[in-house]
Amino acid sequence: MPTFKVFRFNPDKDALPYFQEYKIPESKKMTVLEGLYYILENLDPTLAFRSSCRMGVCGSCAMHINGQYGLACETQIATLGDTITIRPLSHLKVIRDMVVDLDPFFAQYEAIKPYLVPKETPGPREFAQTPKERARIDFLVDCILCASCYGSCPVVGTDQRYFGPHALLKALRFVEDSRDGDTYNRLAFVATDNGVFRCHTIFNCQQVCPKDLDPTGAIGKLKMKSILAKLTGKLKKTG
Ligand code: FES
Repeated sequence: MPTFKVFRFNPDKDALPYFQEYKIPESKKMTVLEGLYYILENLDPTLAFRSSCRMGVCGSCAMHINGQYGLACETQIATLGDTITIRPLSHLKVIRDMVVDLDPFFAQYEAIKPYLVPKETPGPREFAQTPKERARIDFLVDCILCASCYGSCPVVGTDQRYFGPHALLKALRFVEDSRDGDTYNRLAFVATDNGVFRCHTIFNCQQVCPKDLDPTGAIGKLKMKSILAKLTGKLKKTG
């Protein structure tokens, strides 16, 4: 019978957070999310956590599980040993138990303009891409904004003005998109004080990403592209 040791905090009534233990029935095929639902439905209806798709698509069940950030719906209990310690994502205010306030995370995402700025005035035809052009954004489009990388990033932990690995990976997704016409403004923006040059290349974000993406590598590419654009005078013209 695995023991779930779960972070609990209700700011309306608890002076401090604490851990609460629950025993759940042995099940070799149970995920951590299913374990949390077992607790909610059978042991403690006050437990709060987020989830939606239960299949690694929506990103809402990210949390800290036995020392690693990841998706509860994709983490098998059988891989975790007898005691499973669960905490909310770091660097975000706890609303209750595992539910955190994601507003700062999404504000940074919105700041990078996460939408195409077309090169041409939209008309009746589509903006087609060749397979080679599309390949440049393969993987980058797979980010589900779960915030595992954000929770694992020590730079975010020390200064929340830093744009964060999620926003910077998404910035590269638009810089690499052949249909986007805002490349040099994007590069100028990510090269400002709280952007790519704040990254210390610690690789935590790369290690925890449930989609096997590489935010550290994306930030490295943005550094190179913004330096090159600056050296060739392109940031000055449009930045
Ligand atoms: Fe959607 Fe886990 S519930 S990713």
